[in-house]
Amino acid sequence: MLEVQNIYKTFNPGTINEKHALNGVNLTLEDGDFCTVIGGNGAGKSTMLNAVAGVWPVDSGRIVIDGEDVTGLPDFKRAAMIGRVFQDPMTGTAATMEIEENLALAARRGRRRSLHWGVTRKERAEYREKLKILNLGLEDRMTAKVGLLSGGQRQALTLLMATLVKPKVLLLDEHTAALDPKTAEKVLNATETVVNRDHLTTLMITHNMKDAIAHGNRLIMMNEGKIVLDIRGEAKKNLTVEDLLHQFAVQAGEEFASDKALLG
Ligand SMILES: Nc1ncnc2c1ncn2[C@@H]1O[C@H](COP(=O)(O)OP(=O)(O)O)[C@@H](O)[C@H]1O
Ligand SMILES: [Mg+2]
Repeated sequence: MLEVQNIYKTFNPGTINEKHALNGVNLTLEDGDFCTVIGGNGAGKSTMLNAVAGVWPVDSGRIVIDGEDVTGLPDFKRAAMIGRVFQDPMTGTAATMEIEENLALAARRGRRRSLHWGVTRKERAEYREKLKILNLGLEDRMTAKVGLLSGGQRQALTLLMATLVKPKVLLLDEHTAALDPKTAEKVLNATETVVNRDHLTTLMITHNMKDAIAHGNRLIMMNEGKIVLDIRGEAKKNLTVEDLLHQFAVQAGEEFASDKALLG
């Protein structure tokens, strides 16, 4: 479903701020693969997701989504294929609009916009069912303005919006990192439910090694713009945080810097 082939990306080339952010990244995800992504600060995790989303052109390499070479396509032309959720709960939803209006906008992603985008009864029933899955009681607040919701509720809604039209690839960039641990767990559970139900091909960056182990069927570790570890199947199921900390120390030559990795 997703092929990342030998991707390179250098920021500010030829200047004092030159940064080789991606140094030959190769990754193939099968349909329905749920891959967690870990690595230290600046390892290139967000840059890899941005490359897949087409935020800027890569320097070399190829990106193929569901058999289509999208390497030359700008992000807005890939938008119909990709769902994204970022760290900041304030982005991704429109605060001054109602929950159901936000969902109606998301439902029209990749389609021609029509002037008549009011919510139909049929859509309302569909949204209600989908909101129930989140287990946050949002199905009873569908005409509430999104600005009134908590950060966790907004992230869960953003997740729903990103997946309302089934994306070929779902990209989650530390989407629970700004939430308190309890709320983060709720949003992660909602993520797990949606990804499994819709068999979504997913890349999920997380600082939390326990989460990286507990979710998905595959785990990759990045360091200095490369994938340095790729674990799947039974090997992934048997992983421990200690294994990952050890691997990190071996790969990066230093201790993992974040306390968050050990929380939970
Ligand atoms: N748009 C940008 N312009 C310049 N440098 C960038 C940009 N995006 C990322 N970088 C740099 O590339 C490296 C990788 O960043 P990033 O992919 O965000 O790391 P992380 O693994 O923490 O998500 C970092 O050194 C970062 O400062
Ligand atoms: Mg990042």
